[in-house]
Amino acid sequence: MRVGVIMGGISSEREISLKTGEEMLKKLDPAKYEAVPVVINKKEELAEKVRGLDLALLALHGAFGEDGTVQAVLESLNIPYTGSGVLSSAICMDKDVSKRLLRAAGIPTADWLCWNHISEFAPEAVEKLGYPVIVKPSSGGSSIGMVKVNEPGGLRAAVTEAFRWDRSVMVERYVQGTEITCPILDGRTLPALGIIPQTSEYFDFDAKYTENGALEEIAVLPADLERKVRQISLDCCRTLKCSVYARIDIIVSDGVPFVLEVNTLPGMTSASLLPKSAKAAGMTFSGLLDAIIAASLK
Ligand code: DAL
Ligand code: MG
Repeated sequence: MRVGVIMGGISSEREISLKTGEEMLKKLDPAKYEAVPVVINKKEELAEKVRGLDLALLALHGAFGEDGTVQAVLESLNIPYTGSGVLSSAICMDKDVSKRLLRAAGIPTADWLCWNHISEFAPEAVEKLGYPVIVKPSSGGSSIGMVKVNEPGGLRAAVTEAFRWDRSVMVERYVQGTEITCPILDGRTLPALGIIPQTSEYFDFDAKYTENGALEEIAVLPADLERKVRQISLDCCRTLKCSVYARIDIIVSDGVPFVLEVNTLPGMTSASLLPKSAKAAGMTFSGLLDAIIAASLK
């Protein structure tokens, strides 16, 4: 089977995507697949570069990759691809839209507001949420453009910065607690990982991608909290119609798991969380890719 590892892309997470792709290329079992690197530098290259593939293994992150657009092109070319479909990818990429759906389904997520233009800037609305807040591009990834704001004086600069990255910006109540992440593979949860940032106050870009930037270990949770985390993660996937695999980022505060976001193409670099969780479940990286491919072709 000719498997194209689709990587690079045009989003702010291009460099991370290249690392995800490299890792996938290294770990695809050569006895099973003919692995082909497909580096995307411009949108218009995609259709040309995926011609003749039996499967597109998506190593893209962010806009034009994780947001349903690439999935739609592949659908129209009749090329099978890994991960969630068009609708789910588009919904999950926009944290404002996905949080509305999660809230409607009764899944805990921190209060937030969303502005679609800097002219909507309304600091009084943020006073109601209460400081500190997290300001972030609605469709960002890897914490790029995201800032914690502790008091009103820092709000405008943070919002202006976030608008550099996206047409829509969210201000979310900062939930003090422990960050954990729970991967889903083919309808089941993998072990949740607890994250303790070492280089920053919270799990920002540096903590995510610098060696020893964060301690990431299998979360040892009280049994009822673990059950809740697993159930909420499955509920997120059902509500947001994810398929094959995903990773649900959560903050646990006073025993309540608040969902931060759902990643439909989570990072698969050598430092990433999902492969660590799979390893704890007894799966190699190659085995994880086999499972993602098999579930995507079902
Ligand atoms: N957006 C990055 C790649 C992640 O969630 O892992
Ligand atoms: Mg993300």
